[in-house]
Amino acid sequence: IVSLVLTAIVAYLWGSIPAGYWMGKLLRGRDFDIREHGSRKIGATNVQRTLGTGPALIVLIIDLSKGIGPALLATLVPLFHADGWGILVAGLATLLGHCYPIFIGFKGGRGVLTGGGVLLVCSPLTFLISAVTTIGTISIWRYVSLGSIVGGLTSMICGIVFYILGVTHPGFFAAVSLPQLLYMLIGPALVIIFHRDNIGRLLSGTERKLGQKVPEAE
Ligand code: G3P
Repeated sequence: IVSLVLTAIVAYLWGSIPAGYWMGKLLRGRDFDIREHGSRKIGATNVQRTLGTGPALIVLIIDLSKGIGPALLATLVPLFHADGWGILVAGLATLLGHCYPIFIGFKGGRGVLTGGGVLLVCSPLTFLISAVTTIGTISIWRYVSLGSIVGGLTSMICGIVFYILGVTHPGFFAAVSLPQLLYMLIGPALVIIFHRDNIGRLLSGTERKLGQKVPEAE
């Protein structure tokens, strides 16, 4: 238990590092808050929309790496391993840190990239398949949010399939453990829930396409 609590605290603080928010300050000055622009989120999509593609790529890399760190710690370091349950706690805590960052008033992003980083450690094959469905969806329809939701659903399906195959075929190369499966169900479910305002806009036809600028007043 002590190990799990420690894992949760370290991962939450780590996930709270608000790369997109700092990128805004760095490029536009101290008074700039990216959460007053576009979708009001600190994720790479809103950075792209508000600050441009170069800064967005940097934030993309940082947010993805942010998910990898604590998950790797929980996989490799005995103190954070907790009989395999560390990955679930580390993954969810990192994700929640990104979405509710303690350093900037608990208003962060939607957790796609950070959650994706955790997924890469949990199940590299699932990460790959989800990346393909996400990027494929975005290329066709130009909605990053739709791609993220499709990617989330893909991860959940892969998690279930790979877990079952692991049980029925011992030694299956892409098997996931129960804690990994739980992360692959709860993490994406949270990410999809965090897209509820995007879902509303997608349904009403008002969601912004990739790179679409927004009037400053919005
Ligand atoms: O990563 C979040 C993405 O799916 C949507 O972002 O800024 O368009 O709400 P945004």
